[in-house]
Amino acid sequence: MADSKAPSGTVTIIDNTSNKQTTLPLVSGTAGPKVIDIRNLYKDLGYFTFDPGYTATGSCQSKITYIDGDEGVLLYRGYPIEQLAEHSDFMEVCYLLLFGDLPDKAQRDQFVHDITYHTMVHDQLNRFYQGFRRDAHPMAVMCGVVGALSAFYHDSTDITDPLHRKVASYRLIAKMPTIAAMAYKYAMGQPFMYPQNNLSYAENFLYMSYAVPAEPYKMNKILSKALDKIFILHADHEQNASASTVRMSGSTGANPFACIAAGCASLWGPSHGGANEEVLKMLAEIGDKRNVGQWVKKAKDPSDPFRLFGFGHRVYKNFDPRAQVIQKTAHEVLGELGIKHEPLLEVAMELERIALVDDYFIKRRLYPNVDFYSGIILKAMGFPTSMFTALFAIGRTVGWVAQWNELIEDPSQKINRPRQLYTGVTKRDYVPVAKRKAAAKAAQ
Ligand code: SDX
Repeated sequence: MADSKAPSGTVTIIDNTSNKQTTLPLVSGTAGPKVIDIRNLYKDLGYFTFDPGYTATGSCQSKITYIDGDEGVLLYRGYPIEQLAEHSDFMEVCYLLLFGDLPDKAQRDQFVHDITYHTMVHDQLNRFYQGFRRDAHPMAVMCGVVGALSAFYHDSTDITDPLHRKVASYRLIAKMPTIAAMAYKYAMGQPFMYPQNNLSYAENFLYMSYAVPAEPYKMNKILSKALDKIFILHADHEQNASASTVRMSGSTGANPFACIAAGCASLWGPSHGGANEEVLKMLAEIGDKRNVGQWVKKAKDPSDPFRLFGFGHRVYKNFDPRAQVIQKTAHEVLGELGIKHEPLLEVAMELERIALVDDYFIKRRLYPNVDFYSGIILKAMGFPTSMFTALFAIGRTVGWVAQWNELIEDPSQKINRPRQLYTGVTKRDYVPVAKRKAAAKAAQ
């Protein structure tokens, strides 16, 4: 994907110490802030830029997902997330993210067939689980088993071959639910359940997680529909930490299975995809909505490391549109399941009510994010909190795979290799051990 837009203006940087200056192009995308193309900055002025956490740094061009954090807008290939959550389904959204447009019926049927017929894993992979303790965290299993896929599917690891890339992409999207469900079954000490080709993607995951060989499994359509929606809402999110990890790994030419395993590892962190698990733990610890005030006080206390999980976002400085959809879905699912009293939901809603009128949160533009309500639905489905991030990974795999394909297909892409501001010791000569004590004394 060569530079999609010609420069639309310039900025001039003047070095006030040397009076040298450089003029750099301003580049516009189709939406969002312009970028300053700084690729000549070091050559012209001898300086790097410095942006820990990449708060204002564009790492790539992309056509996949657009976020307007101030307006709370999220578009997948131009389609608003609210519309996709309402009218689409996860397989159709996968097709959209991978290929750029919504499929027609024939395209959709073929795609669903192809994904379905990749849901089984190599049977020898089953033995891989025996190496884990039964109480291993499911994300530890996901990181290990997804990385191990490259040991089983050598026929789709040549990243220069478009067919290999397509087969590996389909395998990853198709097998993540199987791998995650196997992690859950293994933790429970129950036998693995093989995928069923007559089930939808979300139905299959529920089946593989909850069916047992001893009796037929009764599908709960309320739960499978809600799960499909959760997968849609988690599918992609621009250059978040785990997508950037996948791109970083992909830029070295690593095979797609290794790149997605790296994405799983990055997503696991409590500041990222691991937050949904932490939210449930936090709501359970708060316990009752009458305790919320003291926890909000803790979250605001700069000397207290506690932060409200599920709140705040690097990009959204308004409501996370996904959180609004998930909150509505949480009410629907609990209502349809006849769960009239869910203390965790009451605590969450009280937390949101208080935080949204509190100066600390208003000034910092902290709102509930995608993780704030998702756990309440997943808990209602019967999943343990330890499985929450694995479910996030299932939904996000298509986003990681779409970003990875875009990277590999971009002729201008090169290995990602950031620089640094060095603040360590400058050059010094080696001191033989016999002279070190004296040298240290002399240096005082
Ligand atoms: C996801 O990037 C993505 O797109 C991620 C994601 C995706 O789909 O891929 O959307 C998924 O990861 C959602 C975020 C899940 N994480 C959490 O819910 C963890 C809790 N949130 C925070 O850790 C935090 O808000 C982050 C990590 C999400 C964002 O951190 P930033 O952008 O680095 O912001 P910051 O830490 O600099 O916070 C700015 C201020 C600070 O206060 P001051 O130092 O200015 O006084 O806001 C405060 C923070 O202390 N703050 C919070 C807070 N989050 C930020 N205070 C209390 N509770 C919080 N949750």
